[in-house]
Order: sequence, then C-alpha cells, then structure tokens
Amino acid sequence: MSEPNHPLASRFAAADVYEKLTGGWPARVAKNLIANLPVPITPKSKIFDNCCGSGAVTTAIINSTHQKGFIPKINATDLSPGMVDHVSKLFNDFPEIETKIMDAQKLEFAENSFSHIICAFGVFFCPDYEAGYREMYRVAAPGSVTVITSWKVVGWLPLVNYVIKKVRPDQEDWTFPAPPGFKENEWVKERMLEAGWKDVEVREVEDYTSTTSETGDALISIVKDAFEGWTDEEKARWGPLFVEAAKVYGIPETSEGGWKLRMVALAATGRK
Ligand SMILES: C[S@@+](CC[C@H](N)C(=O)[O-])C[C@H]1O[C@@H](n2cnc3c(N)ncnc32)[C@H](O)[C@@H]1O
Repeated sequence: MSEPNHPLASRFAAADVYEKLTGGWPARVAKNLIANLPVPITPKSKIFDNCCGSGAVTTAIINSTHQKGFIPKINATDLSPGMVDHVSKLFNDFPEIETKIMDAQKLEFAENSFSHIICAFGVFFCPDYEAGYREMYRVAAPGSVTVITSWKVVGWLPLVNYVIKKVRPDQEDWTFPAPPGFKENEWVKERMLEAGWKDVEVREVEDYTSTTSETGDALISIVKDAFEGWTDEEKARWGPLFVEAAKVYGIPETSEGGWKLRMVALAATGRK
C-alpha cells in the first residue's frame, strides 16, 4: 500500500527541486552504475529501478540500450507521488517503462521477478531499511545482479551544520535520516550479505554537486527538520550563512558563481 502522505515522501515531493539540489550527480552516477554492471542488460532483461526519484537510473538504462537497438522492460517505483508522476510523464511514450507509487519496504512484485535491480540512494531512507533489503532480495531472480548505493561523503553536510551552529549554537548537528553505518564500506557490504546476496563487492564512485545559493535554498526541503522551531528571522539567515560556510570550508568556486562540493557514493553489488 502506498503512503502519499508519508513524511519521507514529502521530503522528496518535487522532482524539479530535487534535480536542482543534486547539481547533476544522479545522471552521472547512474551512468557509471549501468556501465559497470557485471551482468549485461539484454532485450530479455527485467529491470527494477527501486526508489527511482526523478528517473536517473531508468534514463541511464534507456540511453545505454537505445544505442544498441532495444529498450528493456523497466519497473520504476518510488514512495513520492511527485517523483512517480514526473517519471511516468517523462517516459509516457515508452511501453516498456512501468511506474508505480510503492514503498520499498513492501514491494508489490512476485519473488524472483528481476534480472537487474538498481536502488540508487533510496533504501537507507526506509525506517525499516532491513525490510527494504529483504524485499529487494525476494524479488531478485536467481542469476540476477543488484546494485545498492549510499553515500560515503556528502559535501554539503558540513555547510548545513555550519549554518545551524551559527544560528543556534546549542542545537545538535543535523544528520542524514539514515542508519549510521551507511557511510561505511563494510557496513553496506554486511547488509547485502545478511539479506542473502553473494559475491558482494563495494566500490567508491567519486562525483560532485554543483551548488549555487539557489541550490542552497533547494536543500531546505531535505533538511527541513533542522529548522523546526526556528523563527522567520533565523530562517532568513540560511542563504547568507550558506554562502559564508562555503567560503570558510574553502569549497572551490564554479564559473557560474557557485561551488563544487565533493560527493563520494558507495556502490554495493551482489549476485543472487
Ligand atoms: C536521494 S533520492 C534518489 C532518487 C534516484 N534513485 C536517484 O538516484 O536520483 C531518494 C528517493 O527515495 C525515495 N524513497 C524514500 N523512502 C522510500 C521508500 N520507503 N520507498 C520508496 N521510495 C522511497 C524518495 O522519495 C526519493 O525519491
């Protein structure tokens, strides 16, 4: 059963805000994941883009296979109705692509359904992330490959906490709504092994986000719980302090007048 009013869904309600916020990493990382699959995608593949967001993984798959003359069957799902609506409009002309609002903790697919599962930066948002892993393993077919990503380095995190410390020195640092181990290679490997995958390997994917002060504003939807109880005056300090933080942390500037923040993904791959 989907939960359109789930708090996590509202964190990622708008695909356009999400794309602004990310500064292009979803497309680059997705391309990297698809180029490094240990089981090639063929016309017979059945692929699951779990927690699809604005559709970066599905887009990367289509871009790669289209050149080879085919488009595989892809199921793209997300808890956020805004994201699913965006992806379904994007691929309206592609009968191979099916979209649906779905909770990763309770997948509505039969067991052994997919030859490839990609869950890019999604499962760690599940309150019951172990259920998210178990569900993906259940729907993975024998011989399939699954790729699950998380973050080792999130370049904007210290900037958010710089702002918090300036406005409310006694407030605790903001942390990702994710299990504490999600930054660690061994921890993400262990989660996959525990759920049943074999031959699990973890590699780092170096990327970046291009941030402007506008992107800083877009971040607010992700970190909104950090501002709970803040006055309007305090909230208004976010923009200028974000700019100040970028200078203090020596973040390299881009030619567009923004900053280039390092992001390092962990891509864990397992076989069933
Ligand atoms: C950081 S985005 C990643 C989106 C996309 N895979 C990408 O690489 O750009 C995380 C996505 O996970 C979705 N999400 C969070 N919790 C979820 C859940 N329990 N079930 C399904 N999707 C969920 C959010 O709505 C959001 O679209």
